[in-house]
Amino acid sequence: MKLLVTGGAGFIGSAVVRLAVSRGHEVINLDALTYAACLENVADVAESPLYTFEKADIRDRAALDAIFAKHKPEVVMHLAAESHVDRSIDGPGDFIETNITGTYNMLEAARSYWVDAGKPESFRFHHISTDEVFGSLSSDPDVQFTETTAYDPRSPYSASKAASDHLVRAWQETYGLPVVLTNCSNNYGPYHFPEKLIPVVILNALAGKDLPIYGDGSNVRDWLYVEDHADALLLVAEKGALGRSYNIGGENERSNLELVQTLCAILDEKQPKAGGGSYSDQITFVTDRPGHDARYAIDPTRIRNELNWRPSVTVEEGLALTVAWYLANETWWRPLQERHGVGKRLGTG
Ligand SMILES: NC(=O)c1ccc[n+]([C@@H]2O[C@H](COP(=O)([O-])OP(=O)(O)OC[C@H]3O[C@@H](n4cnc5c(N)ncnc54)[C@H](O)[C@@H]3O)[C@@H](O)[C@H]2O)c1
Repeated sequence: MKLLVTGGAGFIGSAVVRLAVSRGHEVINLDALTYAACLENVADVAESPLYTFEKADIRDRAALDAIFAKHKPEVVMHLAAESHVDRSIDGPGDFIETNITGTYNMLEAARSYWVDAGKPESFRFHHISTDEVFGSLSSDPDVQFTETTAYDPRSPYSASKAASDHLVRAWQETYGLPVVLTNCSNNYGPYHFPEKLIPVVILNALAGKDLPIYGDGSNVRDWLYVEDHADALLLVAEKGALGRSYNIGGENERSNLELVQTLCAILDEKQPKAGGGSYSDQITFVTDRPGHDARYAIDPTRIRNELNWRPSVTVEEGLALTVAWYLANETWWRPLQERHGVGKRLGTG
């Protein structure tokens, strides 16, 4: 496949780019290089003849048209977005512009290119979204998000992603654009930007700082290892039914407190504290995020039955891989801690 991947210098996009190139796909990585981007994430493939980088902003329609005309992609995988819920609380404007208007521009640029090319049957626009569009679940383990769960977004971030999902479906219904959608749970793994919970906990633990847990730590997420997610995304891009959406989960629900305690236990084993004791002694409970959704959980039945996909690791296995990666890659994360807002408490409303 010849793939145009947007947001390929970010966390998940770069995992998709690395995996796609390693499987022999041609990849054009389109990214504006915002604060959240890091081209080192794709250093492993940067010299490959299969890889091209295009610095462009999805808010710039003319730039998108030029990239479509130049590269003639067969499949678009649209991941570029503002992605941090806490930042969306402090400054929703960028989320509206990139996640909604930017997706609109991508759809229009893709449609124009697809029509001019004679509507090739193999073309598809894969929109990558979040389970946060479905709102918040109770603790009843029998209730999970399915692909038909009604949308009920609560944060500026999830509302902007929900709007983008609606636009993508509308472009299929109205213009016949061949689209496929995925909504995934919380990702974690190598190259996770150090403002998100898991890298914050690992790096604060190693620095002897507090490990901040919002509220009482009872919020539940379904943790998905990023390299499993990239594998699922390529599968959907290739084999997903047109017009269909697929939920992608890690099948590993944990409360935030359980997750942080597991991370501390892994760190205690891999890098024992100099003065003795456990990293879990550094856990502190801080003011909750306003509107903090209680629980997200994915019903994985559709992708399991229709595309025969399941995650390859448990969250304990994935966290062990992640901790080992952060211990070995200080040269990657250290400079990123200097970026604007990183290490600060954001989104208190
Ligand atoms: N991280 C998660 O747990 C998670 C969960 C569900 C869904 N998602 C979705 O997956 C996608 C990728 O998430 P991520 O965690 O890798 O995000 P990220 O913040 O790590 O990366 C986003 C990338 O998009 C680029 N970008 C931002 N605005 C842009 C613009 N206007 N034009 C071009 N590029 C722009 C950034 O430079 C960055 O490289 C997003 O659409 C997000 O909503 C993420």
